[in-house]
Amino acid sequence: MSATALLGITGGIAAYKTPALARLLIKKGLNVQVIATRAALNFVSPLSLATVTGNRVHCDMWGDPLNPSVEHIELADSAAVAVVAPATANIIAKLSHGIADDMLTTTLLAATCPVVICPSMNVNMFNNPIVQENLSKLSALGHHVLAPDSGFLACGWEGQGRMPEPEIIAEHVSSLLGPKDLVGLNLIVTAGPTEEPLDAVRFITNRSSGKMGVAVCARAKARGAEVTLVAGPLKVIPPSGIRHIPVKTALEMRERVLEFFPEVDAVIKAAAVADFRPEVVYQGKLKKDRIGSDVRLTMNPDILRELGELKRNDQVLVGFAAETQDLVDNARKKLETKNIDILVLNDVSRTDAGFDSDTNVVRFLYRDLEDEQMDIMSKEGVADLILNRILMFLKKKRNPTG
Ligand code: PMT
Repeated sequence: MSATALLGITGGIAAYKTPALARLLIKKGLNVQVIATRAALNFVSPLSLATVTGNRVHCDMWGDPLNPSVEHIELADSAAVAVVAPATANIIAKLSHGIADDMLTTTLLAATCPVVICPSMNVNMFNNPIVQENLSKLSALGHHVLAPDSGFLACGWEGQGRMPEPEIIAEHVSSLLGPKDLVGLNLIVTAGPTEEPLDAVRFITNRSSGKMGVAVCARAKARGAEVTLVAGPLKVIPPSGIRHIPVKTALEMRERVLEFFPEVDAVIKAAAVADFRPEVVYQGKLKKDRIGSDVRLTMNPDILRELGELKRNDQVLVGFAAETQDLVDNARKKLETKNIDILVLNDVSRTDAGFDSDTNVVRFLYRDLEDEQMDIMSKEGVADLILNRILMFLKKKRNPTG
């Protein structure tokens, strides 16, 4: 019998795409049960959804008084995965506050399966701090929030808020049901920037949000790995169920990464470590007329290089290269001089890749294999590719003749 996916549909214009999404989920071998809110049925016909899925569309909590079943619990218990697409600001607010006032919210409150949320709304609504806070809360609780696409919106505005295409959503949903192929693996992920203090009020840092490293943690955790995240100050909330070691400076990051390194199978160094730090940290606030004369910078240790020197034969080291020019040449130098197994090159001059974006465009470089150039994809997608390659390297290292 095929696994069941709950498809929660709420009242946004993108609901018109949901019969196509249901069709794709069915093609992936899932039995799709649709739960639509009343508002959703203004945008999509229950007849289309019932015809595509072969199942009755669930909407009303109080349907048949003669039927003693507790339908919302039965639906919740039957689900291997749930996806809310499109997810309006309203459903996001309700789910993040535990409100259960209709068929969809009561079912999701009772569901223990992975839940994918696909926000879809006007760009200003999406960027509203209340909506962002609610989404962060859902992420922290383990829900999978898919970043909306940018572009022309039905309301006439342009910006981030478009529901991702049904193909992307279906891919993500089915990946959650995929095998737990990383069970038994122990990983360190570094993420975010470091902050290098100059005095009591100032520090040197960079634009890393931590999204890339946190995406690696989320996918590694979902696939069954044990994850230790050593991270500078993050703009995103890491997934629950991992060991999160917050740090500030490169020196602190080095100390914690080296502490855990002997016990792990692989390290993924997505952090943007500051190359320099002020030589002296002043106690109070340094007078601005002394900055030119008194501030000198000193090099931070290169953590990746040190890991390359300490690496055992059965460990995999993944470095990143954030470049803006002569991308491949600069990245190849890093690969060859630091004893890295896999180097993930990203062009950080692009707005849809590198720092703070939800998507990335990467090229994988190896010492003994051809480079692989990837198309633009979500950071979760890049994370899955990195993890697949780590698995391949570990297998080869541990069974060189196999
Ligand atoms: O955090 P996001 O906003 O999602 O952005 C993602 C990212 C752009 C930060 C990420 O994809 C990325 O490229 N991370 C590496 C950034 C960087 O510092 O690149 P680099 O080319 O300067 O360093 C090369 C490698 O050496 C990196 O793996 C870095 O972690 C490591 N390094 C650098 C300096 C240092 N002192 N110690 C290190 O270990």
